[in-house]
Amino acid sequence: MVWTSRPVRRIAGSVRAPGDKSCSHRALIFGGLASGTSSFTGLLEGDDVIRTGRAMSALGAEVANTGPGVWEITGVGEQGLTSPAGELDFGNSGTGSRLMMGVMAGFKLTAALTGDASLSSRPMNRVLRPLREMGLKDTAGPEGRLPFTLTGSSELKAIRYAPPQASAQVKSAVLLAGLNAVGATTVVEAKATRDHTERMLQGFGVKLGFKTAPGGATEISIEGKQPLFALDAAIPGDPSSAAFLIAAGILSRQGDVLVEGVMSNPTRSGFYDAANLMGASLGAEERGLAAGERLIDLHSGYAGLKGIAVPERLVASMIDEFPILAVLAAFATGETRVTGAHELRVKESDRIKAIVAMLRVNGVGVEETEDGFIVEGCGGPVPGGGLVETRHDHRIAMSALVMGTAALKAVSVDDVSMIDTSYPEFLGHMAQLGAEISEG
Ligand code: S3P
Repeated sequence: MVWTSRPVRRIAGSVRAPGDKSCSHRALIFGGLASGTSSFTGLLEGDDVIRTGRAMSALGAEVANTGPGVWEITGVGEQGLTSPAGELDFGNSGTGSRLMMGVMAGFKLTAALTGDASLSSRPMNRVLRPLREMGLKDTAGPEGRLPFTLTGSSELKAIRYAPPQASAQVKSAVLLAGLNAVGATTVVEAKATRDHTERMLQGFGVKLGFKTAPGGATEISIEGKQPLFALDAAIPGDPSSAAFLIAAGILSRQGDVLVEGVMSNPTRSGFYDAANLMGASLGAEERGLAAGERLIDLHSGYAGLKGIAVPERLVASMIDEFPILAVLAAFATGETRVTGAHELRVKESDRIKAIVAMLRVNGVGVEETEDGFIVEGCGGPVPGGGLVETRHDHRIAMSALVMGTAALKAVSVDDVSMIDTSYPEFLGHMAQLGAEISEG
């Protein structure tokens, strides 16, 4: 179903950020493993997260939604996870499926895993390889694509592993398998990726070791067979979702957008640093802590942007924000270059191809490179008028709709249904800020 975003004069107002997707997955998983009942407020009720909750419940945890955004999880504790009766369907979710592979590896159970067309085309060997070394058995075959069945073990072997790619999902899967392995498992991380697994596990009472190796890599160690204790926490707001609203505020001539309660974590803040380098002057006000994370209220208003070479040191901390960064780049003066972002090829879509197509169909000059892209900024409103192919990718859909609010002509997308995976209130929040987005 085609949806269209029409240019509007003003994007303004304040919105509370939706719960962070990464933290919401982890809250349900760790709560499901812990002894006792954990309680979370502000949990993201997106399809990806709901499916993780369903998987934990099929494996033996009790998961109850007791109010809007309020979830209570009674964990399996010492008893451990058990084989589910049916298939575990992770839908569109790389995080849910990959983290759960790590978790399930450490228990004596067998489970069949599936996902949608996008997830079934994404590489799982990056997680299966280290997990097999620890003792996981699976039917994935050399391609390592879903669907497949895996069989875990309560006698996993602890390993030391240096992931070849900067991936929080791979790091987390290995650490979570390590949680139930015999001995101490270590992940050696060359480039820092989001650290929510490490932070939240500590909130559940798990001890982790951190060391800086020569050359600057971080070694994260976890001793196996540690218990988790129930936790009550508020889930911080999602900086990746907030980025769409903040960008809409920057692009609108009369932009004035406040997003409340956004998590401020250096492993997630690259987009905001890049936007400031391009000339946005974002405001931030401290709002205390939630689940061990700093919260801020973020403000954006209109700014004339200039193109930049995105520093490669920012790439891991803005890996989900390149589609919306590309939209900012399209309105900027001069060229924006993205390099060192090869990981974009294996997201919900090949995001390099999807970004290039999104901009091109809306009249923006853009070039695909092996590990990124180069945008020729329009130095003002982009022509627009295109129909964007979203390729099952929520972040492409949201980026294109934000582009339409400030383009010369309306921008359409071929589907909006997958926005529910990460940000079900997106269309409502955009309407609240003055966007005109409707079917047809
Ligand atoms: C996530 C890690 C990132 C990110 C994804 C969420 C997580 O994926 O793109 O949206 O919660 O651990 P990679 O680990 O593949 O980079």
